[in-house]
Amino acid sequence: MKLSERSKVIKPSVTLALAAKAQAMRAQGIDLVNFTAGEPDFDTPQRIKDAAVEALRKGMTKYTDVRGIEPLRQAVTEKYLKEFGLRYSKDEVLISCGGKHALYNIFQALIDPGDEVIIPSPYWVSYSDMALLAGGVPRLIRTIEQNGFRITPEELEGAMTSKTRAFVLNSPGNPTGAAYSHDELTALSRVLEQHECLILSDDIYEKIIYDGFRFHSIVALNPKLRERTIIFNSVSKSYAMTGWRIGYALGPAAAISAAAKIQSQSTSNATSFAQVAAIEALAGPQDEVQQMVNEFQKRRELIVKRLHAMPGITCLNPQGAFYVFPNVSSLLGKEAGGKKLASAGDVVEYFLTEARVLAVPGEDFGSTENIRISYATSLQEIEKGCERIAAAIRKIG
Ligand SMILES: Cc1ncc(COP(=O)(O)O)c(C=O)c1O
Repeated sequence: MKLSERSKVIKPSVTLALAAKAQAMRAQGIDLVNFTAGEPDFDTPQRIKDAAVEALRKGMTKYTDVRGIEPLRQAVTEKYLKEFGLRYSKDEVLISCGGKHALYNIFQALIDPGDEVIIPSPYWVSYSDMALLAGGVPRLIRTIEQNGFRITPEELEGAMTSKTRAFVLNSPGNPTGAAYSHDELTALSRVLEQHECLILSDDIYEKIIYDGFRFHSIVALNPKLRERTIIFNSVSKSYAMTGWRIGYALGPAAAISAAAKIQSQSTSNATSFAQVAAIEALAGPQDEVQQMVNEFQKRRELIVKRLHAMPGITCLNPQGAFYVFPNVSSLLGKEAGGKKLASAGDVVEYFLTEARVLAVPGEDFGSTENIRISYATSLQEIEKGCERIAAAIRKIG
């Protein structure tokens, strides 16, 4: 079968593939600790499910406006007005099948072949592949743990070229959990002010933040960027709704309608009754979000403490999201399980075979020295997984 060149430039999503592997192993009865989850382990709040059931009862089973139903687009604009003082019209909102789809549509709508897309690395796996699918050129800025996995204004300035078309901001970010403070984000925005590029701000983890950290929208911090910023968000992570597939893009009407045109020739609208559920998520009481974040915070504290106690492992205490990205480079080059550990992938493989713990190798996020551990799992599983990893590391000596 001759495949398109386009299909060959990208990789399948490694996180989804590993999650499937974990599921298959568990189905075989293997007692596996799964640290791969990219989703909250909590159930969707009942009031949100009820809204969907009610919508189904009322016959909300047909196509909707490609851009999403008006009350949901309205709910999105109201959220941004209430939370950030940002005024958007309904024509500046596109509802898609998840935040990932919203990003994909915008990449397709705004990136041309040869356009450079600046992506701070480590990065969420899909940004670079979405850039490649649009013919763009990912331009990575490497960040390190010592700098909190955050880029500096100077590094951003240094990455700008005449071909720069977009800058991807993801704060708090996947896979590191790192987030930019008010002052750091303001400093980056000053650099962006000087360059005519798009800002693609993926704010999907905005609500999952710890220790009183405050999330800031870059558009609210620097309104001069509004006309070339697209904000991405989703109900997936904040409301434990990953399977519902509702996300959105918010930005200038021209960008939104071009992305809607692309969506109209692919998926059409996001699922009708899931859109109604998303209204309930955004406009209803927000208590469950805080409860979930409180739980995540306990888990983050536990996992960071356990990882810090492992000899040779270093780990940033992240401000947000539900991942840690420990550095395992001290294990590289050593013999383990009859094999030399040559990469983060080998370390993951070793933890899987020796300890029955599954994490995600850093390579796919742009780091050869780290592994991603999701702590969207119970405290007991975190204890068990860390105990097993520690024992596996002791065996290496
Ligand atoms: C940084 C980031 N952006 C976007 C997404 C997409 O989420 P969804 O498509 O479920 O809204 C994810 C999911 O893992 C993510 O980690």
